[in-house]
Amino acid sequence: MKYSALKGAHDIFSPEINIWQRVEKIAEDVFSAYGFQEIRAPIIESTDIFVRSIGETTDIVEKEMYTFSDKAGRSITLRPEGTAPVVRCYVENHLYNLPAPQKFFYSGPMFRYERPQAGRFRQFFQIGVEAFGIEEPKIDAEILSMLKQFCNKIGLKELSFEVNSIGCERCRPDYKKALVDFFSSRVDALCQDCKRRLDHNPLRILDCKVEGCVNLREGVPKVTKFLCDECREHFNTFLSLLKLLDIPYVLNPDMVRGLDYYTRTTFEVTCKDLGAQKAVAAGGRYDRLVEDLGGPPTPAIGFAIGMERITTLIKSSGKQKVPVPYVFIATIGEPAEKEGLIIADRLRQDGIWVEIGYPGNSLKSQMRRADRLSARYVLIIGDDEINSGKLKWKRLSDSSQGEISIQEVCNFFISMGSDLNI
Ligand code: HAM
Repeated sequence: MKYSALKGAHDIFSPEINIWQRVEKIAEDVFSAYGFQEIRAPIIESTDIFVRSIGETTDIVEKEMYTFSDKAGRSITLRPEGTAPVVRCYVENHLYNLPAPQKFFYSGPMFRYERPQAGRFRQFFQIGVEAFGIEEPKIDAEILSMLKQFCNKIGLKELSFEVNSIGCERCRPDYKKALVDFFSSRVDALCQDCKRRLDHNPLRILDCKVEGCVNLREGVPKVTKFLCDECREHFNTFLSLLKLLDIPYVLNPDMVRGLDYYTRTTFEVTCKDLGAQKAVAAGGRYDRLVEDLGGPPTPAIGFAIGMERITTLIKSSGKQKVPVPYVFIATIGEPAEKEGLIIADRLRQDGIWVEIGYPGNSLKSQMRRADRLSARYVLIIGDDEINSGKLKWKRLSDSSQGEISIQEVCNFFISMGSDLNI
C-alpha cells in the first residue's frame, strides 16, 4: 500500500520551507510595526459561524466546506477562512470592551473543497489581519499601506492593487434591485445556481465562475453608481489617502468578493504572472459582522494573503535565499570525532549551524557532503591535528585555507558572527 497526501493538500519541507519561514517572519515584523498582535483561533468551529458570516448562498458555504458531525452529533467545519473565527473570538471574549482599535494577525491552514489547480488547493495557508472598532477610512488606507509594505519587503513586483466599494445596507438594496432587473431578462442563460441566486443573493451572480454567467455580465450595472452619500464619501476619502501614501491603485467596480460579509471598501492584490488564480491577497471591510455574530455594532476591516501564491512568485523570481551550514567538521578517527563533537557542541550553543561527519564516512565522502550542503567552512580533524593541536580550515567559496589552534577555533568562528547566515 502506497500512501500519498490527499488531493489538493501538500507537504512543505526544505528548501521550500525556508521561503515560508522568511515570509512569515517578514509578515510578523511588518504587522507588529502597525500594532497588530498575533491571535491563534481554533481550526474547527461550529458550522453555523461560517454559514452566518460567509453567507448561505456563497460557493464556499454551498459547495466547499469540510463539514462533519462530531461524536456528539454537533456540526463542525474546518475553517475555510480566518475572519469568522477571529470575529467569534472577539465577541466571545468581549474584546470590544478594550480601547479601539483592536488589531490581530494570524497564520495557518484553511480548508476549501475546491477543484485543485495551479494556485488553488484544498488545504492552503493564509496570513491574515483583522482590525476592529474604527469606521474612518484612515484605517482602510493604513491596512493597504501595511499590505504594500509587506509585498515590498518580500520583493514582490508587478502587483496591482485593485480597490472598490460595495456599499452598505442602506445602498445595497437599490443595487440588488438593479441586478435583479438586469439579470431577469437573461435568466434562461444563467446556470442553475445563479437562477437561485437571482432570488436570494443576486450579488453572488457577479462572482460565478461558470463561463455562460461570466459572459452575461457584459454591461451589468456597477455597484459604485449606487453608493449612498456616506459610502461615497468614505470611498473618496480612502482613495485620497491612498494617493497621500503613494499607493498606486486600480479602480475595479466589478470586484464584489465571494463572501457575503463585506461592506464598503474591498480590495485585491493581483499578479498577472499567476494566471487564473491571480489574487495573492484580498480583503475589505465587514462593518456588520461583529453584530451578526452577537456583538455590539463594530466596524472592522482585514485581509488575507495566500501563502502558496506568494511562495510561487518568490520561487519563480529565483531570488530565494537558502540558509547553509556555517561549518562542516570532517573527522578521521575516533579521537578526532570526539574533539569534533565537542567543538560542534560549543559552536551550536552560540547559534552557529554546524554539520559533522559520522563514523564510517571517508574524508572524501564527508567533503562531498559539505560541498552539497554548500557549507561556508570545512574544519578538518585527524590524528595529526589532534597531536599537533592545530586544525585546518578551508573556505569552500574561494578554496582559501589556514590553520587555527584547538583552543582558538571556537572564538575564530564566533568572532565572525556578523558574517553568519543562520
Ligand atoms: P479570500 O479572497 O477568500 O478572502 O482569500 C484570501 C486569499 O487566500 C486569496 O486572495 C488567495 O490568495 C488565497 N486563497 C483563497 N482560496 C485559496 C485556495 N483554494 N488555494 C490557495 N489559496 C487560496 C478571505 O479568506 C477573507 N477571510 C479575507 C479577509 C480577511 N477579509 C477580511 N479579513
